[in-house]
Amino acid sequence: MDYHAILEHVLADIEPEIGCGRVADYIPALRSADPDRFGMAVADVDGPVTGVGDWEAPFSMQSVSKVFALALVIAADGEQVWQRVGREPSGNPFNSLVQLEHERGIPRNPFINAGALVVTDRLLSVTGDARGAMLDFLRAESGNPAVDFDPVVANSEAEHGARNAALGYFMASHDNVENPVPQVLEHYFWQCAIAMSCRDLALAGCFLARHGVRADGSRLLTRSDAKRVNAIMLTCGTYDAAGEFAYRVGLPGKSGVGGGILAIVPGRCALAVWSPGLDARGNSVAGVAALDRFTTRTGWSVF
Ligand code: DON
Repeated sequence: MDYHAILEHVLADIEPEIGCGRVADYIPALRSADPDRFGMAVADVDGPVTGVGDWEAPFSMQSVSKVFALALVIAADGEQVWQRVGREPSGNPFNSLVQLEHERGIPRNPFINAGALVVTDRLLSVTGDARGAMLDFLRAESGNPAVDFDPVVANSEAEHGARNAALGYFMASHDNVENPVPQVLEHYFWQCAIAMSCRDLALAGCFLARHGVRADGSRLLTRSDAKRVNAIMLTCGTYDAAGEFAYRVGLPGKSGVGGGILAIVPGRCALAVWSPGLDARGNSVAGVAALDRFTTRTGWSVF
């Protein structure tokens, strides 16, 4: 498969959509992202990684980090986490509070903010350093020791973190938080503020295409758990647009408000795409379009 040729075609197809949508502004440090940037990378399960556009430029991974937090928590702690978070799509925005009150402080899934806070809380309990565990993993899988936190983004999120704090304290009132809420929030904000490129993200996510096997050949997840994480990405990874994403792209995918999306073709490759212009539901406009074109051109959706 000539990945580079396919990516060049994809880029040509979606060029008019680059710059469309709106850059996230509810975290002030994300406002300065240039909406005209676009990068895409594909990491094959057998090693080579290639890309087009700004594929080596770091961006804020934001909610894409939620996939890695979930995988690390399942690897360390097995099925325990499912006592505290569900596995159903929410049909609501990523930072919504409404379901929590009716559902006894149990978030619908690990990829909305409430669910991710529970996962980070558990990761903190089992590792002692949730954000550090995530950074170590991302550096190892990408082979890039320069992957790092962006303290400006982390601090900006903390300063404007009232909504996430509300989610955390509400769940604590239902005894669904183990550590002090401010500590959980801090680890969550810093994990979201990791900056990495499409190249690094595709390599880091490739263990999900390898059915749970890491870059060094060791196993992070059982084949069954890797399937489960991919399934939750498909049903919940793009929030209240998960149905539309499955319809258009047909792959497990996880988006972030930095404009990044990680998508998995199980058994073949991991794809990472970045463009900061978002649609109304927080997903990259050009990123979704590029993944749509990729699966149409290759025939590689899971369906
Ligand atoms: O907690 C937040 O609101 C952000 N750190 C992450 C949200 C996000 O990326 C949602 N994704 N589309």
